Amino acid sequence: MAKENSEKLWGGRFEGTTAASVEAFTASIQYDSRLYRYDIAGSKAHATMLAANGLLSKDELASITDGLTAIETDIEAGTFPFKSELEDIHMNIEKALIDSIGPAGAKLHSARSRNDQIALDFRMYLRDECDRFVELLDEVRRAFVTLARTYMGQIMPGYTHLQRAQPVLISHHMMAYFEMFGRDRERIIDCRKRINISPLGAAAMAGTGLPIDREMVAGLLGFDGVTANSMDSSGDRDFAIEFTSCCTLIQLHLSRLSEELVLWSSQEFSFVQISDKFCTGSSIMPQKKNPDIPELIRGKSGRVVGSLMSLITLVKGLPLTYNRDLQEDKEPVFDAVDTVSASMAIMAEMLSNLDFNTERMEEATRTGFMTATDLADYLVLHDVPFREAHGIVGKAVATCIARGCELTDLSLVEIQEFSNVIDKDIFEVLSVEGSVNSRISTGGTATQRVEEAVHAAEILMGIGE
Ligand code: ARG
Repeated sequence: MAKENSEKLWGGRFEGTTAASVEAFTASIQYDSRLYRYDIAGSKAHATMLAANGLLSKDELASITDGLTAIETDIEAGTFPFKSELEDIHMNIEKALIDSIGPAGAKLHSARSRNDQIALDFRMYLRDECDRFVELLDEVRRAFVTLARTYMGQIMPGYTHLQRAQPVLISHHMMAYFEMFGRDRERIIDCRKRINISPLGAAAMAGTGLPIDREMVAGLLGFDGVTANSMDSSGDRDFAIEFTSCCTLIQLHLSRLSEELVLWSSQEFSFVQISDKFCTGSSIMPQKKNPDIPELIRGKSGRVVGSLMSLITLVKGLPLTYNRDLQEDKEPVFDAVDTVSASMAIMAEMLSNLDFNTERMEEATRTGFMTATDLADYLVLHDVPFREAHGIVGKAVATCIARGCELTDLSLVEIQEFSNVIDKDIFEVLSVEGSVNSRISTGGTATQRVEEAVHAAEILMGIGE
């Protein structure tokens, strides 16, 4: 319902009434109510600082603080009447405060604008989300370390171009994801540093002539410092874009993992059993057990990428400083937060309920000439130039393909036809175990290297011992 503008906090210069359609179109309270806790904490800190600088009396501060606490209680109890004609979370709370405590409430907005207020709330919200994301990433990472420990020593095919390439340890594959999500964690922690700077005190955009103490507010709210330029403080959304791009990378990693789980749980691969708890059936095909969770996580990548696109497009071409366009920053960020956090949580849970079909995985390494590179390396160690060795092994593989056999099916005499430097130790080299364990280069798949990596990860993550 359109309200008389005299009831609006900015109503002074208006004679006409805002159209109801405009109120509906401009309101953000449907989604920014999510920020209430930060808005209230920010207001309390701001009021404390105003009082310390003589802009509020002690009594006024006490009544503002109590009033805000009561509002917070109402919101949490679900009894607070959010009004779309009051546009956003800031004015809903401020108006309720004024209505409940009177003139002292009307002093709260001194030296402040909604422009620096929303930047503050958003930064506080994202700071908390960064902390929650780190915990969720750690859950996912712990699940990988546990899988790596459980399947230590078991072999599977490693792929390039989704063609069988070289045998690796299952644990090595798991630890690849541990690394990926480890970088995601670092990115979030780094991003948090730029989020955790207080913009409050920029007021509309030029700063304020009232005697304020920005550092005090920042200290009260746990910020690492204050922003250096009031115009930048009011117009900047880099921090939200950076956070969402961190979200996008997390979701992309989850999506690649999901794709592998979908493939591996297919009958064609049969590498993995996803627990019944994490699958659903088909309404028509009674035999089906579908990997819905990884499919949905993969599918949800689209909306996270979409959120990032929305944000960067939103900011492109926007003149300094605050523009109402910026109100459109919240929904994409909230959606990315919800989507990525839910995906991480369910993925961690599902990983803890995975069963690898180790026999089938190992069997898959027995065909496809997966140790052909080992034969080439063997020749190199016997002083055959690598390019020549590559050609020799290529011929050996072609011969095997024609005969319908694997390299390991050839007799010593038959292999020696390809090169006279080959001796009987070649069979150890051509075995998948020999291949895996020969790859002792730093970061390689040899059991010794993977064991070291898993051990270090267990210590890092506080697992075992
Ligand atoms: N709801 C607004 C937003 O999210 C708050 C800032 C509004 N400022 C203004 N001058 N209208 O961006």
